[in-house]
Amino acid sequence: MSKTVLSQKPGPIGVFDSGYGGLTILKQIRDLMPEYDFIYLGDNARTPYGTRSFQVVYEFTLQCVTKLFEMGCPLVILACNTASAKALRTIQQIDLPRLDATRRVLGIIRPTVESIGELTKSRHVGLLATPGTVKSLSYPLEINKLFPDITVTGEACPIWVPLVESGESQSAGADYFVERHIKNLLAKDSKIDTIILGCTHYPLLLDKIRKYVPQGIKIISQGEYVATSLKDYMKRHPEMDARCTNGSSCRYYTTESVDTFLPNASIFLNEAVDADSVTL
Ligand code: DGL
Repeated sequence: MSKTVLSQKPGPIGVFDSGYGGLTILKQIRDLMPEYDFIYLGDNARTPYGTRSFQVVYEFTLQCVTKLFEMGCPLVILACNTASAKALRTIQQIDLPRLDATRRVLGIIRPTVESIGELTKSRHVGLLATPGTVKSLSYPLEINKLFPDITVTGEACPIWVPLVESGESQSAGADYFVERHIKNLLAKDSKIDTIILGCTHYPLLLDKIRKYVPQGIKIISQGEYVATSLKDYMKRHPEMDARCTNGSSCRYYTTESVDTFLPNASIFLNEAVDADSVTL
């Protein structure tokens, strides 16, 4: 593959997800770091990623990261667990040196994992995520590197992302699938006291998730941990901070039609936004 020529000018922080889920992360990042410029890219035309193979998720994610680099982003956040689990390491190790070794791509699993040690008392943690994320074993492996005493039990919820993406998160059908997967998870390990929502779409199902998770079990949404960790990253990396522009703007791009993207995006963001369509 030929080497892409990328501008070295400062630019916005890129936030990527397979669809709308990353908007839940972007929102929390912007609440904590409102001064920065952002570009959001949702690969809505090819969502969901969660049921796709390692190779396909890697190829799709790499295309989107490259697009964000071409749009001027020196730093890209994979605001998608599936992409963080299946594509992050290869992109960091193989593609970044080839594309531009001065740019950075960060995932969202590590910040979530780092917070878990002080949240669980029973040392039994549950993970609700896409089949891809659960199968990758990224969460148990990463958690056990930092906290070898924690047992992690995963439950794949293949239908939750399609429910959210199709605007069905408030429907009775959603109740059925939310209850089913929470019951499955707790049946596998009754000592779980903390549940990670390991998919950026799941905060949209939070009301229903709360309804079926017994009181006393903590439910962890990732946004605040990812935002805090990014702020800390900028402090520790002033050379990257200097390359990220401060204009408080946010531009939204989708690989789908804008007409499809806008109404759904406004549900995730709780406000109306403008967007443009991109081809990869
Ligand atoms: N939002 C993505 C995640 O956090 C998954 C969505 C998908 O399956 O495409 O895993």
